Amino acid sequence: MNKLPEYVGILGLGVSVPERVLTNADLEKMVDTSEEWIISRTGIRERRIIEDGRAPSELGIQAAERALEDASLAPADIDGILYCTFTPDYPMPPSACILQAKMGIPPCLAYDLNAACSGFIFGLQTAYGMVKSGSAKRILVVGADCNSRFTDYKDRSTCVLFGDGAGAVVVGETEKGRGILGNCAGVDGSGAFLIYQNSGGAVHPPAPDNVHEQYIRMNGREVYKFAVSVFGPAVEQALDKAGLTIGDVDLMVPHQANIRIIESAMQRFGFSPENVVINIDRYGNTSAGSIPLAMDTARQAGKLKAGTVCVLVAFGAGLTYGATVLRW
Ligand code: UT7
Repeated sequence: MNKLPEYVGILGLGVSVPERVLTNADLEKMVDTSEEWIISRTGIRERRIIEDGRAPSELGIQAAERALEDASLAPADIDGILYCTFTPDYPMPPSACILQAKMGIPPCLAYDLNAACSGFIFGLQTAYGMVKSGSAKRILVVGADCNSRFTDYKDRSTCVLFGDGAGAVVVGETEKGRGILGNCAGVDGSGAFLIYQNSGGAVHPPAPDNVHEQYIRMNGREVYKFAVSVFGPAVEQALDKAGLTIGDVDLMVPHQANIRIIESAMQRFGFSPENVVINIDRYGNTSAGSIPLAMDTARQAGKLKAGTVCVLVAFGAGLTYGATVLRW
């Protein structure tokens, strides 16, 4: 048997967002809201919305192609696909299979993973375990969501928050000292109906009288409290597993759900804006696309360099949460 890899991490990163922009001024014309309310309560200025007729997997595939290019790898080098999304192209077939065929990746373990906004972190941690255990060598982890397809643009409490976007990474063996150092993940299903879609699943299959129930509904205040309560402990547990402390962290890469949630974590850990990635103003909440999009923003700003120790943190519907500490 081949020697199992000691260090496993991200070999390449790519992202993709739609070109169409939905601004706060646009939303002011659609619902009873204001630019001032949206910016002060959420930090969002605009979000990207997928064009009509396009499949969400087009974004996931483009991000995955860019991640492969970034890693200087070819589709034939991939032997696992985790497509993290709660907005797949279809309930069936899995989007992972659509991506495998379109990219020409050889037959391999490939499936969709739904952990809502924590999806990318759950996928990254699963891929890490698979590569560490030797069951795969290089796994594509895609985080892609098109929230707009399930957003009620008459509901001001949700429609101002969400955007569409995708990111992808290749997970594989890295050089000594680099890669994923510690993980923490969890769920609290007692809060399952604090963010949910009531129809479209097998309890209430799509029917003419329940079309509106397919939209995302959320008790924002309760989800906010959950996010703030799990954020700090998730970071601390992942750091503990890595044998590091908060002082060792160069960069925090948080899920972009609300600027106030990010600011409360900055305050708790004493982080300054230079050490935190914020792009919520441009993209809003892109669910499973959020963390890889934030990593890309950090890299473009020169904040994610070889050796940078970062902590990725996400939370979302489920309720779910997770954190990963890695050395880039
Ligand atoms: O990705 C993971 C899942 N999602 C999250 O993490 C979201 C977490 N929650 C939040 O980010 C915040 O709770 C929201 C941004 C959703 C809402 O902010 P809030 O400060 O918690 O506002 P609220 O829900 O307590 O509402 C305050 C007021 C209400 O009016 P009344 O009842 O005080 O008269 C709302 O009706 O703000 C009103 N409101 C709005 N006003 C203008 C709610 N949405 C809007 C809006 N424009 N878009």
